[in-house]
Amino acid sequence: MQKTPNWSLQQLPEMDMQQLHQWQALLEARTGVCVTDQRRMFLQTSLATRMRELQVEDYQSYYEYVTEGPTGAIEWSALIDRLAIRETSFMRHRPSFDAVHNHIETILAKGRSTQPLQLWSLGCASGEEAYSLAMITDQCLADSASRSPGYAIWATDISLKALEQARLARYPASRLGGLTDTEHARWMRPVDHGKLEILPVLRDRICFTRLNILEMAQAPIRDLDIIFCQNLLIYFRRWRRRDLLNLLAKKLAPGGMLIIGLGEIVDWNNPLLERVPDERVQAYVRRDTHGSLE
Ligand SMILES: C[S@@+](CC[C@H](N)C(=O)[O-])C[C@H]1O[C@@H](n2cnc3c(N)ncnc32)[C@H](O)[C@@H]1O
Repeated sequence: MQKTPNWSLQQLPEMDMQQLHQWQALLEARTGVCVTDQRRMFLQTSLATRMRELQVEDYQSYYEYVTEGPTGAIEWSALIDRLAIRETSFMRHRPSFDAVHNHIETILAKGRSTQPLQLWSLGCASGEEAYSLAMITDQCLADSASRSPGYAIWATDISLKALEQARLARYPASRLGGLTDTEHARWMRPVDHGKLEILPVLRDRICFTRLNILEMAQAPIRDLDIIFCQNLLIYFRRWRRRDLLNLLAKKLAPGGMLIIGLGEIVDWNNPLLERVPDERVQAYVRRDTHGSLE
């Protein structure tokens, strides 16, 4: 890769259409994410910022660097951290978390007492979604009159940087907007620099790990009681959303619930699933082997 010594003095290079399409195709093939023409500027700026750091002068040289050999794979990982849209918040869509709460109560009411509940936050970003699920689940188990089966949460994302932040579990007070005062007083403690940290009782339940959703079929995660996948599929083409949702349906335990963002897919049905009759959420429950929800 050729380096240009006085790169930082130069203007950002313009990306022509052919280069744009090349980068769009690479991103979509490797992550599923489509960069719309409106987001072209974001792509260009992110690439240019990284190229400036590496002192690479043109998009083509950088493209070749990223797509060749083991160093390319390392660079790709760093680049994904820049390109991923990691916007998130605690209890981002409260009705969806209420649906999780209700569903866990239903499972517990059926007398589940030994096998731990298994939840999965897909595209967990910096962890707020997974910790929100932990708060809801912990609360349900504490409130339940029956013996607690315990729980475990998988939280996966393609971005290592996001996962690093998630494991750190420290958030500025300004980012707790979705939580009630009672929730953050119960589940967080103040630490340095005006930040709050999630308590170990929740952190210990969550396994943050890297997973590209396009490689989900190989992941040894299955028999889930809750799959929570919001604000990720919206960046994908419709056919890919359907394919991935069909795979997710198979990863549910009988009676398990899949929750996606409201409106993230229309005209999709899966014979394994039944839509939850609540128009505030887009959730599906896997029928048991006899074809009923009971
Ligand atoms: C907009 S955030 C959504 C975060 C959270 N689910 C929410 O609703 O608040 C999308 C997340 O999906 C991740 N992501 C993008 N492509 C992915 C892929 N192919 N596999 C796994 N995660 C991916 C991004 O890194 C980012 O953290």
